[in-house]
Amino acid sequence: MIDQRAGDSAVAVHIRTYGCQMNVRDSESIGALLVRHGYRLTELEDEADVILINTCSVRGKAEDKAIGKLRLMGVEKRKRPGLIVGAMGCMVQRIGWGAIKRVKGLDFAVGTHRLSALPAIIDAVRAGRGPIVDVGDEEAEPEALTGHLDGQVLAFVNILLGCDRQCAYCIVPTVRGREWSRPADSIIKEIRALAEQGVKEVTLLGQSVMSYGRANAVWPGASASRHGFTEPLPRLLEAVAEIPGIRRVRFTSGHPSGCTDELARAMGTLAGVCDHLHLPVQSGSDRILKAMRRGYTADTYLAAVARLRKAVPALALTSDVIVGFPGETEEDFEQTRRLMDRADFDNAYIFKYSPREGTPAAALVDDISADDKLRRNHVLLEDQDRRGLALHGVLVGQVVEVLAEGASLRNQDRWAGRTTTNRIVIFEPRTAVKAGDTVAVLVDRVGPQTLYGSVVGDGEI
Ligand code: 5AD
Ligand code: SF4
Repeated sequence: MIDQRAGDSAVAVHIRTYGCQMNVRDSESIGALLVRHGYRLTELEDEADVILINTCSVRGKAEDKAIGKLRLMGVEKRKRPGLIVGAMGCMVQRIGWGAIKRVKGLDFAVGTHRLSALPAIIDAVRAGRGPIVDVGDEEAEPEALTGHLDGQVLAFVNILLGCDRQCAYCIVPTVRGREWSRPADSIIKEIRALAEQGVKEVTLLGQSVMSYGRANAVWPGASASRHGFTEPLPRLLEAVAEIPGIRRVRFTSGHPSGCTDELARAMGTLAGVCDHLHLPVQSGSDRILKAMRRGYTADTYLAAVARLRKAVPALALTSDVIVGFPGETEEDFEQTRRLMDRADFDNAYIFKYSPREGTPAAALVDDISADDKLRRNHVLLEDQDRRGLALHGVLVGQVVEVLAEGASLRNQDRWAGRTTTNRIVIFEPRTAVKAGDTVAVLVDRVGPQTLYGSVVGDGEI
């Protein structure tokens, strides 16, 4: 996160984030809120007066990592008297006071629904009133969480909070609560302000983003949009794509049941909507999908993919897959391999099943050995690398349009950006390129997940 200063004498906060894009977004909004309260943000753990760890609960390992980091920070406090260490996010929501019990020296722990209370909580801890745990279920000031940090090209914007899906393995409904969609006008206002600050690309976020506007109304009146859309998400995509300055719109994560004809048409016809969708499949076996309570079969998933591809021929699909769900046989696993081939995923994140207390699947025996989970994980990663290389190979010698994000982290002489299909492109700028420029890059080499090349022409397209 970029250093944002409210004067050098201000109390410095370092925020470290584990987990998904929603957590990244929460960290940013908390950062912006703290700056408004007179704190300053620092990238450097060593110079921080307050260290805030944003935690994830999705797998046991994610929690172990957060606890490990928090304990280290607890030890650090002995060397740095006055240092304040706190935790926020999904794990805190799940374990509440357990966080204080498990981490010696932890000063505060704030759940997913109480983020706007954080500045007051930090103030109270600094005044000696810690430790404090707040896992209440009502956000004090939701609008306080719409702030962003300055100087960004890309931005995440929450549109749907919580999740009503109840997939058997998933802790998210427990830690993020029931679905609630933000009113469209408030989202549009937030994105207009972002565009005025130079943001070029927004990603609309929701755990099950295609449920936007289903549990509660988000648009006043029921009339169709200018392009004739009546469903809430296509209407929102249209409105966001029309905001001056916004060149690209993404939304994540999808579910096959939300891939309606209208959404496919919106993706195909609205120029600003990117040719990419993250559509987690989790398994290719109908038996396992049923046990996971995913609400689709391999065939209906592939039918959704076909519907989207018909409307958006260039569509890149990425996915999540869980290996080793209880009862997953070799045959179930082979069905997953076949589905991944048929869907022709551009990229896939593979996870080893991890039982989460309180989820329906936790009642099942976690009967797939660690070795089998690891082997299946490797097989799918190898398959995906092969698929990625083949998909990318055809791009060598072609020119792709890239939104430049900044210097590459590994090599400051090179730049990094992404295509509309969300492929990462590392390129030589040759001409002066600024973050936020859209440039044409001639691809000369590819890896399974990355394209390499150099800018052609004189910079911005
Ligand atoms: N075990 C392993 N992976 C999980 N995911 C969610 N819950 C679990 C779990 N209990 C994965 C899913 C989801 C991604 C964010 O994390 O694939 O899409
Ligand atoms: Fe994101 Fe889920 Fe992890 Fe929470 S538990 S940070 S919602 S991935």
